[in-house]
Amino acid sequence: MLYRLIAVAVLGLVSTPLWAANCTTTVEANDAMQYNVKNVNVPQSCKTFTVTLKHTGKLARNVMGHDWVLTRAADMAGVDADGAKAGLADNYLKPGDKRVLAATKVIGGGESAHVSFKPSLLKAGNKYVFFCSFPGHSTVMHGTVTLTK
Ligand code: CO
Repeated sequence: MLYRLIAVAVLGLVSTPLWAANCTTTVEANDAMQYNVKNVNVPQSCKTFTVTLKHTGKLARNVMGHDWVLTRAADMAGVDADGAKAGLADNYLKPGDKRVLAATKVIGGGESAHVSFKPSLLKAGNKYVFFCSFPGHSTVMHGTVTLTK
């Protein structure tokens, strides 16, 4: 009986990581126009993946606004350029832009926002990025999004 209990306990410990993929992450952005991470891992085993963006600064969204936008790497420049024309009312993204795979709204200091998307949107072998679509920010504020097992 005792052996059986131990066996169950050990199995539980060993098997936990198999389904305990981390399907959420938090990315911080600040008044110095920086994200705190250079890469976000997205496990393909997640049904949905949620990114929480926290603006740890104090500046308003029309001055130092940040968002978290996911696109293919090849689409970043185009989405960013069209987003700058769209303006803050549209969160610096062209409305209905199909190249945008996920995006939070633009937030200011002390605020947070989140976005969820299906990792199945990401295809193995493609390169993906995240960036801030506030005009002028993406040259500094960008990183990679990696699909993981
Ligand atoms: Co920004």
